[in-house]
Amino acid sequence: MATTDPVNPSSLPLQDRVAIVTGSSRGIGKAIAIHLASLGAKLVINYASNKDQADLVAEEINSCCSENTPHATVVQADISVPAQVKLLFDEAERVFGSQVHVLVNSAAIANTKYPTIANTLVEDFDRLFSVNCRGTFLCCKEAAKRIKQGGGGRIILLSSSSVGALRPNSATYTSSKAAVETMTKILAKELKGTGITANCVAPGPIATDMFFVGRSEELVKRVIEACPHGRLGETKDVAPLVGFLASDAGKWINGQVIRVNGGHD
Ligand SMILES: NC(=O)c1ccc[n+]([C@@H]2O[C@H](COP(=O)([O-])OP(=O)(O)OC[C@H]3O[C@@H](n4cnc5c(N)ncnc54)[C@H](OP(=O)(O)O)[C@@H]3O)[C@@H](O)[C@H]2O)c1
Repeated sequence: MATTDPVNPSSLPLQDRVAIVTGSSRGIGKAIAIHLASLGAKLVINYASNKDQADLVAEEINSCCSENTPHATVVQADISVPAQVKLLFDEAERVFGSQVHVLVNSAAIANTKYPTIANTLVEDFDRLFSVNCRGTFLCCKEAAKRIKQGGGGRIILLSSSSVGALRPNSATYTSSKAAVETMTKILAKELKGTGITANCVAPGPIATDMFFVGRSEELVKRVIEACPHGRLGETKDVAPLVGFLASDAGKWINGQVIRVNGGHD
């Protein structure tokens, strides 16, 4: 007797599902957006200030689709501002004529210096928490109300393996991501009965702007040496996991934090 769901071989895993990826003008968010598009999803590419780079990501996706209707649209929105997070969902629904199925919150900021708690400026703490924690909260709040219920609904939030590593000189960033992990686990329970899952993907060091800013060559070398694979992670090491969680195959994974770090915490 068949125990798996019927599969339509002609359709892609995310065929015609609508996905918002915050912070997809660059880095990990960009790789996730392009990967979800390759699985058939229609994409909202979001950025804070780099319009040109966001436009290039959308162009890359749209150049691959044969149909006349675009598969990617670009929306500027600061995720720490409630009205702008609402606009992301409004635009997705308006452009693609459908409720949103998948939200991936990749947008975040990090410190460019690595102070101890004693030496951390209160303004830097507030700035990081405003985007990483408040921004994630606003995305979760809007997603919980507006993502399509009844199957295929996914909320995927980017955390960091640093929450497991608990290194000195990283308290502000790491604790903002610890809040993201806690929020995700509670959200998954609050979404009981909706068919929507909520999970965290927590990368280790990944070669993006965020990783390199403020790190000396010597420090980068030490991070590479500490990785069992002897290299930094790349954005393409993270995107497939997000694609899996977003697909129907990932539906039984819920309320989890999945570290994707090549064995480097
Ligand atoms: N790279 C790593 O080593 C690493 C490790 C663990 C976890 N992570 C997590 O992975 C995620 C992606 O990191 P990344 O390395 O790809 O970062 P990144 O290269 O610095 O890119 C950050 C992205 O977030 C956007 N952004 C920043 N503030 C925003 C705001 N207020 N509203 C909307 N968008 C905003 C940026 O838009 P603009 O281009 O317009 O500025 C950009 O698209 C983050 O959640 C990060 O904490 C990264």
